Amino acid sequence: QARKLFDYNIVLIGFMGAGKSTISDYLSTMFAMEIVEMDQVIAEREEMSIPDIFETYGEEYFRNLETNLLVEMQEKKNTVISCGGGAALRKNNVQEMKKNGRVVLLTASPQVIYERVKDSNDRPVLTGRKNVEGISELMEQRCEKYEAAADIVIQTDNKTVLQICEELVQRL
Ligand code: S3P
Repeated sequence: QARKLFDYNIVLIGFMGAGKSTISDYLSTMFAMEIVEMDQVIAEREEMSIPDIFETYGEEYFRNLETNLLVEMQEKKNTVISCGGGAALRKNNVQEMKKNGRVVLLTASPQVIYERVKDSNDRPVLTGRKNVEGISELMEQRCEKYEAAADIVIQTDNKTVLQICEELVQRL
């Protein structure tokens, strides 16, 4: 694979199950980029799972941790930052994302999202609406903010991981 060094970071945003983690893993392998999985870093530092953080301290606390981490990442370059699905909903998070580099939105249809998230138990936001209808509703509420945050939008339905990565890199 061609080696390429980005002098900025690539920030992946999008709904739960849109493919942020999968694409960031692949990108980091393709281009020898460092990878920062925001939820994972937050959970490790807090020594708590994401659902436990939500339950114990609330969503606001969690969103503040996201903002702080996005600020911290601005010291880096050539890093893929995989955000949690709600990170781009906050204005100040979006500001800090922009300072990192290019913000890439991954999208998928509610049906595809449902198939990808139906067996996961670590998404408190989906409690009580883990069905196509519920996902579709939440997606509709969020899509305007996602799109406003994005420099590049990539639709992922019916594409392979490789195709998505190639399209992404071409459009950077
Ligand atoms: C959230 C998405 C999750 C995680 C948290 C909140 C959201 O990340 O940050 O459960 O509000 O959409 P994933 O997109 O990695 O599932």
